[in-house]
Amino acid sequence: MQTAVNMLAIAQGVWSKALETARVIVDATSGAGRDTLYLAQHKQPHAHIYAFDVQPTAMLKTKKTTEAFREDITYVLDSHENISQVVADKLDLVVFNLGYLPGGDHSITTVPKVTVKAVENVMKQLAVNGVISIMVYPGHPAGKEEGVHLMLLLEELPKEEYSVVKCQLTNHDSTAPYLYLVEKVK
Ligand SMILES: C[S@@+](CC[C@H](N)C(=O)[O-])C[C@H]1O[C@@H](n2cnc3c(N)ncnc32)[C@H](O)[C@@H]1O
Repeated sequence: MQTAVNMLAIAQGVWSKALETARVIVDATSGAGRDTLYLAQHKQPHAHIYAFDVQPTAMLKTKKTTEAFREDITYVLDSHENISQVVADKLDLVVFNLGYLPGGDHSITTVPKVTVKAVENVMKQLAVNGVISIMVYPGHPAGKEEGVHLMLLLEELPKEEYSVVKCQLTNHDSTAPYLYLVEKVK
């Protein structure tokens, strides 16, 4: 049984709330498709999901995992930097699960500069009350750097426009995954 106080459960709780009204949903790092599957299972019937990944192997896995929902999902083999070139609408929920594909090629990982650019881009396209969820894995060097760059970006956001939450297991060591949640409030 999944415990309540873990990063994924907390993220999914916030996704579920956003999914009550979300029309346009993006999984920015679809990987093996587990997060895409959760989004597809919990979204409203009229909502549509765009699943991005740069790895053909990952995209195949996403397609297989989410086969039952394929009519509700557009699969995009491209970098999350390019979301706005594929999705013209305002975004209601964007999910980043950073790092590398578990069980896959660990050298293909999200890249700090690209991640920050992608988050900046989706912030511009976010609907009011739209949410960005970012799981960070500081246990590997690129993940640690990604976290630092994201902190610099997110902590400076004006509170009148965005609410930003950082969820971290404070009694675990500093390599434990943590979560950023960003909502556009105005
Ligand atoms: C931790 S995995 C994602 C796990 C996935 N959400 C799941 O539920 O199975 C990270 C994924 O990010 C992908 N990735 C790396 N750089 C990317 C980029 N610039 N754009 C989109 N995906 C990227 C990797 O190929 C990898 O599959």
